Amino acid sequence: MSLLEKDKAFVWHPFTQYQTSGDPIVITKGEKHYLYDEEGNKYIDANSSWWTNVHGHSNPYIAEKVYKQFLTLDHSIFAGATHPTAIEISERLIKLLGRDFQKVFFSDNGSTSTEVALKMAIQFWFNKGEQKRTRILALEGAYHGDTFGAMSVGQRGYFNKPFEHLFFDVDFIPFPTEENKEEVIAQVEKLFGTEEFAGFIFEPLVQGSAGMTMYAPEILDALLAIAKKYQVVTIADEVMTGFGRTGKLFAIDHLELSPDIICLSKGITGGSLPIGITVTSQQMFDTFLSDDTTKALLHGHSYTGNALCCAAVSASLDLFERESTWEVIRIIEKGNKDFVEKVQQHPKVRTARYLGTIMAFEVEQSGKSNYFSSIKEEAIAYFKSKGILLRPLGNVIFLNPPYTITQEDLDHVYKEMLAFLEKL
Ligand SMILES: Cc1ncc(COP(=O)(O)O)c(C=O)c1O
Repeated sequence: MSLLEKDKAFVWHPFTQYQTSGDPIVITKGEKHYLYDEEGNKYIDANSSWWTNVHGHSNPYIAEKVYKQFLTLDHSIFAGATHPTAIEISERLIKLLGRDFQKVFFSDNGSTSTEVALKMAIQFWFNKGEQKRTRILALEGAYHGDTFGAMSVGQRGYFNKPFEHLFFDVDFIPFPTEENKEEVIAQVEKLFGTEEFAGFIFEPLVQGSAGMTMYAPEILDALLAIAKKYQVVTIADEVMTGFGRTGKLFAIDHLELSPDIICLSKGITGGSLPIGITVTSQQMFDTFLSDDTTKALLHGHSYTGNALCCAAVSASLDLFERESTWEVIRIIEKGNKDFVEKVQQHPKVRTARYLGTIMAFEVEQSGKSNYFSSIKEEAIAYFKSKGILLRPLGNVIFLNPPYTITQEDLDHVYKEMLAFLEKL
């Protein structure tokens, strides 16, 4: 049996309708911003393997640090025990985040990092004895993961229809734009004014799964100001936007005000190993102190604080201290700016936008932009034939490459994006 035949026999892939989908590519090697298939074909990983990879694949620096960690300590229980690498990265993250951030909670992936954040916000009010503070606010179009709590605060629709009746109630406000911002701000003032809200969760500045939709820091600052006025716990889900994606280390670095909780994953290990991290303040932490055990955050996973994942975080943070990483981020940012100026004039493009290393454009189609657009499959096949792996969000084609990409490869991707539009 070939690898592909065995895959078909034994593997169930995510987000895949087997009745209609084509074969997966068998990836046998990754190096820098390239992935190689079993025939040796080389592809530019234009969306960084589900937006995770920032320092290039099989990064030797990360590999070395993880290997050394493995020889010393692979994994140990994290309740009633700790280890040097978890302590090291916690201290470094607290210094990098600044503001009031003081405590790092470990979990396994992006979804669990948001689940933990929601549980912190809800239990914060429970522990204070404020029974009325139970409501959660989220943005329309949000995506915070695929576990039940994360799905509850995400956009309801095709993806989670079978489970919708089991979700907890959440209030959604329209995605804020320059046009509707006054209405959205007024709506939030009214909602938070009820003093029934426990928390407000949002993807800061860029909603990833919604189609890399972007909103201004001034709008988010205005929403955060209202939340602070009414003491609503604010949760910045930086699972996608963190680690240089918006041109700064964190998207919240574009803001004047600070959220109470931040969720991190994806790029935090350079995209090499899974980890979820939820960071909050001393004030939040202190609310869980009590003689009563049930007031503690009774949440954890077998692999919480895994030492290999922590070593990958440590290596990734080292690489962010290198000027060369930021030089590539600037190169991608400049490339995106120039490309957006050009592509937004194209008659087949509805809108185009960029922030830092993220660039997206919506291809014209009948009706509203949506995930099930047929343009998606056409684009995947076209770009694959040009040595580029990308996975559009419906008719939204986007670029968020690893920070090892060269100017030449960036230019190749932009050129092929224009050629694809011509071909449509
Ligand atoms: C903003 C955001 N939050 C949470 C998640 C969920 O992360 P994971 O897929 O690691 O569970 C994602 C994944 O795309 C995301 O983009």
